Amino acid sequence: MKKRKLLVVGNWKMNPRTLKEAEKLFLEVQKGVKSGEIIIAPPFPFISDLHQLSRMKRIRLAAQDIFFETHGAYTGEVSLPMLKSVGVTASIVGHSERRERGESNAEIYKDIQTLVKHRTLAIVCVGEKTRNNDHRGDYFNAVETQLVAALKNLKPAELKYIVVAYEPVWAIGTGNDATPEDAGEMKLFIRKVLSDRFNRVAAAKVPILYGGSVNKQNAGALIEKGGVDGFLVGGASLKTKEFLAIIEEANHAIAGA
Ligand code: PGA
Repeated sequence: MKKRKLLVVGNWKMNPRTLKEAEKLFLEVQKGVKSGEIIIAPPFPFISDLHQLSRMKRIRLAAQDIFFETHGAYTGEVSLPMLKSVGVTASIVGHSERRERGESNAEIYKDIQTLVKHRTLAIVCVGEKTRNNDHRGDYFNAVETQLVAALKNLKPAELKYIVVAYEPVWAIGTGNDATPEDAGEMKLFIRKVLSDRFNRVAAAKVPILYGGSVNKQNAGALIEKGGVDGFLVGGASLKTKEFLAIIEEANHAIAGA
């Protein structure tokens, strides 16, 4: 069997407060990472400087969002060609914090089409808002609806530009992580949705990450028992020691899996 590869994405969100702090964090992470593929998604104003500091192929820079047009009269927006010109090779798409502020499935679809057209990795976030009183398992439908809308019209070969991050909204920033069993069940479900829509071979190559209160304590079990291919890490990606420990735990677990 092919060895599983680990992918860990650090989503810094609107942190840290200054370029100086961002550079310090980036350099510390760069120094400490020993293995695995790492993607860091800093705020836009820091990307270019961090790219200058980047010395390792295994650490890539991502945007936290893109705008689907390439240029023009779109005040406040940032395009993919602009981001690529300062070192970006991936983007998070459809994070729940953006969906919450009004980003629609239609916009997410356009972002993904743009990323794929420019051969740039799209880290597509999906996840249900709640599981409370959900005895019928509607959370599966919620995830399937988001996934199908996001990946509409892609060709199987284009799945190589897709990473899916399962992030149950109730687990983000709350300390209420999903159990490895819950994450594993959803991972299998997502894989099945991809297989049915595209084909098994193409679907098998899509990394499926888990995100939501990942820390060094739960990382190993989520990989080992949950079978996810890595993580999208928010809060813990801002603490060098914790972030490096997550990567180490995950690497250890994936090597033994
Ligand atoms: P968290 O955030 O790790 O702080 O829960 C995850 C995310 O929002 O991607």
